[in-house]
Amino acid sequence: MKIIKTINDMQSFSKQSMRSGQKIGFVPTMGYLHEGHISLVGEAVKQNDCVIMSVFVNPLQFGPNEDFDRYPRDLKRDEELASQAGVDVLFYPDVTEMYPKERTTKLTVQERVNTLCGESRPGHFDGVATVVLKLLQITLPDRAYFGMKDAQQVAVIKGLVDDFNVPVEIVPCPIIREKDGLAKSSRNVYLTPTERKEAIQLSRSLRAASKALSDGEINPERIKDIVSTYLSETSGSIDYVEVLAYPALEKVHVITEDVIIAVAVQFSAARLIDNIVALKSEIAIGV
Ligand code: PAF
Repeated sequence: MKIIKTINDMQSFSKQSMRSGQKIGFVPTMGYLHEGHISLVGEAVKQNDCVIMSVFVNPLQFGPNEDFDRYPRDLKRDEELASQAGVDVLFYPDVTEMYPKERTTKLTVQERVNTLCGESRPGHFDGVATVVLKLLQITLPDRAYFGMKDAQQVAVIKGLVDDFNVPVEIVPCPIIREKDGLAKSSRNVYLTPTERKEAIQLSRSLRAASKALSDGEINPERIKDIVSTYLSETSGSIDYVEVLAYPALEKVHVITEDVIIAVAVQFSAARLIDNIVALKSEIAIGV
């Protein structure tokens, strides 16, 4: 596996691969890889000739009181996991390479952000959209792979590539879970042992919600009540429980279209999110 640290070298590599007719798959990450990321690489390996992964903890998407400084980092381990998974190039720029000077143009995401994580993290998706657009221009992929764990991120990025006619296919991939159902996340390491046990309530609540949907429940408020009952059995505080049209992320009064049921719970040192996308009784990407 090749490690590239500069934008110039990365673009030259991608242009050369394109010229030789290779399809490029791209997996953007902030590192501290887990099976969720590795499953994205697995998809990318299947569908492309060359797989590029970026590891970049993007300061722009962290709020002033968020965990940018203590976000877990372990490049050696990431290198090993990425190479074993079949990554051909690891793009690992530093912050000054990505943001060398004050930007002259800034991106503001207008739709799909005033709800779910966007509501409690103002500016977060502007930072995500900015870095993803940059990374797509730098790695020049045919396809880019994103986990549905952050379904709002997928919706925002689909909007971004549509708005700016970025010639890339966005490939959403299913959530990868621990045996007990907890969605894999780099932040799970912050849970205390007790919280780790309680955290299974997130996926349980979503399973109960999807069962209620398949039993014919079409009232989003009832679905939210079911989910909240499960979540209130944890010591965490519920940040949100939402049922929204997907990918528009707009409120629904009756569930008759694709919806996302999404939750966020704040534990002592970790905020966990989880979701399912469902069409009434039919789970599209589920628990
Ligand atoms: O999902 C993530 O890890 C990040 O938001 C991403 C897409 C790599 C952008 O920094």
